[in-house]
Amino acid sequence: MSTTTKRSYSQNFVLFSGLFIVFIAFIYQPLPHDFPQPWKYRLICFGAKLVAKVGYVLEKFNLIKRVQSIRLLYYLFVGCFQIRNPQHQLKIYDVAVNNVSMRIYQPLEYGPEDLMPAIIHFHGGGFMVGCRETYDVVTYTIANQTRALVLSVEYRRVPEHGFPSALNDCMTIAYEIFRQPLKYQIDINRIALAGDSAGGNLALVITQYLLRDGYKPKLTCLMYPALQFLDFTLPSYQQYLPKDILGVINEEDFLYVISQLSGRVLVTRDILRNNHTSIIHKQRLYPYLNPQKYLPKQYQQNLKPLIFDENPLMTKTLEYLITPDISPLLVSDDELKKLPPILLFTTEFDILRDEGFIFAERLKHLNKSLYHYHFKGSFHGAHILLHGPLKFDFAWTMIGKTTDAIKKNL
Ligand SMILES: *[C@@H]1O[C@H](CO)[C@@H](O)[C@H](O)[C@H]1NC(C)=O
Ligand SMILES: *[C@@H]1O[C@H](CO)[C@@H](O)[C@H](O)[C@H]1NC(C)=O
Ligand SMILES: *[C@@H]1O[C@H](CO)[C@@H](O)[C@H](O)[C@H]1NC(C)=O
Ligand SMILES: *[C@@H]1O[C@H](CO)[C@@H](O)[C@H](O)[C@H]1NC(C)=O
Repeated sequence: MSTTTKRSYSQNFVLFSGLFIVFIAFIYQPLPHDFPQPWKYRLICFGAKLVAKVGYVLEKFNLIKRVQSIRLLYYLFVGCFQIRNPQHQLKIYDVAVNNVSMRIYQPLEYGPEDLMPAIIHFHGGGFMVGCRETYDVVTYTIANQTRALVLSVEYRRVPEHGFPSALNDCMTIAYEIFRQPLKYQIDINRIALAGDSAGGNLALVITQYLLRDGYKPKLTCLMYPALQFLDFTLPSYQQYLPKDILGVINEEDFLYVISQLSGRVLVTRDILRNNHTSIIHKQRLYPYLNPQKYLPKQYQQNLKPLIFDENPLMTKTLEYLITPDISPLLVSDDELKKLPPILLFTTEFDILRDEGFIFAERLKHLNKSLYHYHFKGSFHGAHILLHGPLKFDFAWTMIGKTTDAIKKNL
């Protein structure tokens, strides 16, 4: 009897160790030697991949849309941590403006006559996932640390809503604030815009709109923003799109989001060779991002010459992608000169790394006020991993740099 139990224990031990090793081998992916907490990152990628796959099956059976499972996972990774504390003296409530809603974080130390500095915040998530709830830990922390009024905009996303729904919703809120600051007790001379990834894209596009209309944001904070949809042959795209960052930033999902943004049109792999834009437009806009001129030398190793070709099936339907409404990098120096001080994060492990550096270099050429932090051992989307088992220390560094820039400029 006891020998059988002993044997089954050791059998189980061998079995579980074997499974564990298989699991480790399965989730293993090579990462740079300076990558902090690599196994945590690998685990996140595994979780995301698993959920995406399960979501795919559930969708096949018409149970739940795949995007819903990814949104839920994103929330569980980031948004479900409760950090609210009455001692922080923040009043938090949701309001809607023309049926676009936003969450307001209001510091309580201001009197009814005081005007407050404000941050209009657009969350990231590839125009597809993320919401004010998922980002609550980020917006809450920024409000708590800067003591500015934070407005977290809930915009429409793909696949339910294509371009320009997100932009329109964010514009609704931004213009509401700039047109009627007093209604919200906001000091119009102390307003910042902020966002990461797709939210960074929205923040910069809207900053440019506001400036054209004579409004003056005081600061724009861009965390690894998406800045252009013209050139997908930049070295960072070539290097990191196959790496499937966070288990969700890969070729398939990239094409999916662009197709959904564009009204579910056909988007083929040709886009990765830039055939989605006409030769004329390429010639006109390429000088605005020319990597040979603006990309740091160490990133130019894998630089390939631009292909001047076009696929007419896509050039018409995707033409909006190279307008400043979604490619805010593709504007003249005169437009960039008007920008307020910019806080810019780039991360090494990121398809958007190079456009960030190109933007930084263009601003430097123009002697613009720029706080550029490059996080070498870090990856796209990292600043939201602030709590729980998936916390990364550099997420707190990123939040710290953001609140410093806000406190200094607002
Ligand atoms: C606003 O309302 C319209 C009409 O009911 C709807 O189509 C649209 O999706 C709504 N926008 C948001 C952000 O909910
Ligand atoms: C909020 O601010 C207080 C005071 O600065 C600080 O002690 C606390 O850690 C902050 N909490 C969060 C979640 O940022
Ligand atoms: C797109 O670009 C690739 C790479 O240069 C080329 O081989 C292909 O023929 C192009 N496709 C179209 C439809 O123009
Ligand atoms: C930027 O500043 C440098 C040094 O002060 C100056 O030489 C250069 O002309 C300036 N460039 C622009 C575009 O103002």
